[in-house]
Amino acid sequence: MDDSVFRSYAIDRWGRGMLGLCENGDLGLLDPSRPAAAPTSLPVLLDNMRARGIDTPLILRVGAFLRRSLDDLNGAFARAIATAGYKSVYRGVFPIKVNQQAGVVDRILDYGRAYGFGLEAGSKPELILALSRDLPEGALLICNGIKDAEYVRLGILARKAGINCVLVIESPGELDTVIAEAKRLGEKPMLGVRIKLTRRVSGNWADSSGDRSTFGLTTKEVVDMLEKLRAQDMLDCLTLQHSHLGSQVPQIMDIRQAVDEACRFFTELRRLGAPLEYLDLGGGLGIDYTGEARATDNSMNYTLDEYCTNIVETVIYAMDEADQPHPVLVTESGRAIVAHSSILISDILEASYFDRSEPISPEPDDHHMLSDMAAITGYLSPRRVQECLNDAEYYREELRALFRRGVIDIEQVARAEQIFLYVVGRIKDLVAQSDNVSPEVLEELNEHRDIYRANFSLFQSLPDVWAIDQVLPIAPLQRLNEKPGRRAILSDITCDSDGKINQFVLEDGIDNALPIHELRATERYYIGVFLVGAYQETLGDLHNLFGDTNVVTVDFNAEGILELEHEVEGDTVAEVLSAVEYEPRQCLDAFKGIVERAVRSGRINPGQRRILMETYRESLNGYTYYEHLHEEESHG
Ligand SMILES: Cc1ncc(COP(=O)(O)O)c(C=O)c1O
Repeated sequence: MDDSVFRSYAIDRWGRGMLGLCENGDLGLLDPSRPAAAPTSLPVLLDNMRARGIDTPLILRVGAFLRRSLDDLNGAFARAIATAGYKSVYRGVFPIKVNQQAGVVDRILDYGRAYGFGLEAGSKPELILALSRDLPEGALLICNGIKDAEYVRLGILARKAGINCVLVIESPGELDTVIAEAKRLGEKPMLGVRIKLTRRVSGNWADSSGDRSTFGLTTKEVVDMLEKLRAQDMLDCLTLQHSHLGSQVPQIMDIRQAVDEACRFFTELRRLGAPLEYLDLGGGLGIDYTGEARATDNSMNYTLDEYCTNIVETVIYAMDEADQPHPVLVTESGRAIVAHSSILISDILEASYFDRSEPISPEPDDHHMLSDMAAITGYLSPRRVQECLNDAEYYREELRALFRRGVIDIEQVARAEQIFLYVVGRIKDLVAQSDNVSPEVLEELNEHRDIYRANFSLFQSLPDVWAIDQVLPIAPLQRLNEKPGRRAILSDITCDSDGKINQFVLEDGIDNALPIHELRATERYYIGVFLVGAYQETLGDLHNLFGDTNVVTVDFNAEGILELEHEVEGDTVAEVLSAVEYEPRQCLDAFKGIVERAVRSGRINPGQRRILMETYRESLNGYTYYEHLHEEESHG
C-alpha cells in the first residue's frame, strides 16, 4: 500500500504507532496492545456516530491511548529504578487541572490503580472533586494551590479519614493557616513545602520559572518555615518537597539541572531535621507535538526513558553523596498522561480556493489590462516566476483602483479576479514542480493559500492555538491514498479573524499550509486535530456562544474490536444561554411575544409564525455548532 500521503503528515513521528492507514485510505485507530492488527477506520466510526445522532464537531477519547500513557510512564520509571538500583519507588499523581472531566479523571484512577497512581489538586474545588473519588490504595493526594482555612481543614481531616492528603505549603501565610487549623482540630497534617528553584527553563513557560516564579517559598522562607514548624512541634509533619519547572520543558538538560537543585534542597532540609520521604518534581514532561525530537516550544529533545533515567540517576547520586535514603519519587505529569488520548474531529463546511484551473477570457470591450493580465501565462517560466507574480498583482491592483474611480464596472472586476486566480493557479503549479523557488515567491504565494472552513470554535476547543501559538498535529481522516491537490489554512466558524490555524506539522517540518483534498459535493470531509487531551477541553470559552462539543469515548475490547463506551452530548444553545445569565424559557416567551405582535400587525401570517416558533424552539434545544440537518452525505 502506498503510504506516502499518510507519511506526509508525519503521523508516524507524533502518533506513537496508535494511528494507521486503512486499505481504503481512511485514517484508523490502532489497538496499542495489537500493533500488527488492521486499523479501525475513523470515518466509518464517525458515520456510525452520526447515524446515532452524534455529529461533529466532537472530541473522541480513546481509552486504550490513556491506558498506554499510564503504562508507559509507570513502566519507564520502573525500568529506570530497576536498572539503576534505586532503593525506593515511583508514585505518580495526575494534576486534575490538565483535564478535569470525570470521564478522564475516573479512567486515570482506574487504569492507574495497579501503580497506586494518585491525584494532584491545585485548588479547593479540585480537592472537593478528588475527595469524592475512589483513590487507589496507597495513592497520594497532593494539595497545591492557594489554601483558605476550609481547604486546609478538609486536607487535615481527610488524612485522618485515611486519605494520603499532603498539604503543600506555597507561601509563609499559608503556613500560619495550617498551624492554626491543626491546633484547632488537634490533628497533625501531612505537609509538603514548595520550593522555588532558581534555574530558569527554556520553552513556553520560561518566564514563570526561576526567581520570578510566582509560587513557592524562597530559600529564606523555607528555612524560617522549618524553624516555625519545629517551634510548634510539627516538624515531623513535613514529609514532601515539591517543585515545578513549568509545563512542556523541551530541554532535558533543564530537567536534569532542576532535579539536581531540588535534591540539594531536599538533602539540606533533611539535614536540618525534616523527615522528608517524598521528592515531588512536579510536571514538565513534554509531548513531541511536531515529532521533530528537538528542543523547541512544541517538541522535546528527550525520550520518556531518558527523562526517567535522568531523574533516577540524579537523585541516586545526590542522596548517596549525602548518605541519605532514597526518597519516594513523585511526578505530576499531566500533559504526558492525557494529550494523546483525545482527538478533536471536525468536518469541513466549505472551501475558498485562491486559484482556478479553468482559463477565462476577457470580453471584447474590457479594459486592456484584463488581456494584459491574461497574457502573463504566455511568458511564465521557472526563471520568471517572481516577475509573473509581480505583474499579476500589479494589474489586479490597477484594475481595482479603476473600479473604485468608476472607470470599470463590477462585472469587469469580477472577470479580472478570475483571470488573476487562473494566473496564480498556473504559478502555483509551476512552483510545485520546481526545486529552487526563492523564499520571497513562496512567501508571496502564502497570501494565496486556500481557506477551508471547519466546523468548530478555536476558542472553545483549541484555546492554546490562539493563546500561546501551540502547534498541534492535524490530518485529514480520509483519502490518504490520494495526493492532496490543495494547500490551505483552516478557519473556524466563529466570526473572529483570530479563529484560524496556520501552522501545520508535516514530514518536512512546520508548514504554514495544510495539504488537503479538493472537496467533493455531498461527501463529508473530516479532519482530526490530534494530541488535544491536555488543557484544551477546559481552558476553552464561549466565544460567539459556541459551547462544549459532543464527547465520545471508545475503547478496544478484549478481542481488539473498537467499542463505544460512553457519549456526552455537547451543550445546547439553551445551556450556553443559561451560562451567560439568560433564562432560556424567558427568551422563548419573549420571542413569542415579539412574533405575536408581528402576526397581529400583519407582517407575518400564522403559518410563518408556526415555522418561526418551531425553528426557534428546536434551535434553542439543539447543538451550538453548524448542524447538517436533512443533508444526505457520507464520508465517501
Ligand atoms: C504544580 C503543577 N503540577 C503539574 C503540572 C502539570 O504539568 P505538565 O502538564 O507539564 O505535566 C502543572 C502545570 O503547569 C503545575 O502547575
